[in-house]
Amino acid sequence: MTTQDFIGKENFTIHTQTVSESCPSNIALIKYWGKYADQIPANPSISYTLNHCKTNTSMEFIVDEAFSVQTFLAGNEEVKFAEKIEKYFKNIEQYLPWILKGKYVIRTENTFPHSSGIASSASGFGAIAKCLMALDASFTGRNSEEESLRKASFLARLGSGSACRSLYNGLVVWGKTDEVEESSDLFGVQYPDDEIHEVFKNFNDWVLLIHEGQKSVSSTVGHGLMNTNPYAERRFQEARENFVPMKEILKNGDMERFIKLVEHEALTLHAMMMMSDPAFILMKTGTLEVINKIWDFRRETRLPLFFTLDAGANVHLLFPNNGSEEQIKAFIEAELLQHTQKNGVVKDVMKF
Ligand code: DP6
Repeated sequence: MTTQDFIGKENFTIHTQTVSESCPSNIALIKYWGKYADQIPANPSISYTLNHCKTNTSMEFIVDEAFSVQTFLAGNEEVKFAEKIEKYFKNIEQYLPWILKGKYVIRTENTFPHSSGIASSASGFGAIAKCLMALDASFTGRNSEEESLRKASFLARLGSGSACRSLYNGLVVWGKTDEVEESSDLFGVQYPDDEIHEVFKNFNDWVLLIHEGQKSVSSTVGHGLMNTNPYAERRFQEARENFVPMKEILKNGDMERFIKLVEHEALTLHAMMMMSDPAFILMKTGTLEVINKIWDFRRETRLPLFFTLDAGANVHLLFPNNGSEEQIKAFIEAELLQHTQKNGVVKDVMKF
């Protein structure tokens, strides 16, 4: 499929309407870090879609009023966010030709704490794209469920790259790779269910809130710094190569190799930040303390507790429900919670 396949049809009938949609967040296992023009990823990525961390959005579209966007986050008006959405809507007009023909009032809230540092752009843009496709269905009446989801993923990507993976449950791939049929740089695709070992279908993600508040460097700026990073090409190549072992691991359930690969991806992401010019570090002392404790715990118990990181200081604790989870949870409560700011932890599971 190409961008041309998503161009919107010119005959539509618009009317005032409110739609509501919800979209979960996701956590990448092979990371997207670096992109080209028009939100084309420099390498393919794969993520788990979460279950509880979600954005709920209602979108009121009012005809007979000039194009404008008003946004409320948890009831509070957010002018900066509205400006971002206005720009985004102008940018996607060719895909939804009715989009600039009315006024929008968008109310959005996250099920996770506001200042937690959990990325809200993925679930946020995912929910907005779903709302837009709900309006589109009502104005043009021509979407199959499958087409509509794919276009929502395509549109979400143009808002925030990782958002395109949030439209599907389970494991989701974004970015062309020979290892995954139908994969595309333009939208996310679900990783085939029969290629995933049962052990990976019942997984926890407990997010330790190490540092609440604004990050020092945004993801967008971070991606941009890959343009001049001397290690970038090697990194993109490595991410592409990592799909080969990832595919084998997902099939045969090799937890040890999975842990090694996922932690390597997380540390590589942060190593890239440290090797950028200017360099930046998003991990905090607590992040490193938690990582070291996880490694000690694994050495001592051989239990499958491991981590991944987003572009921030929080630690995503990953562990399967395979009989050892109670011992792992007890360890987290006793040893790791103390490294968070206010005993902050968001307990989520992967959505299959
Ligand atoms: C580190 O999707 O937030 O979470 O496309 O500029 O909006 P933009 O960036 P964003 O980048 C997320 C990067 C990451 C890794 C990942 O989710 O793959």
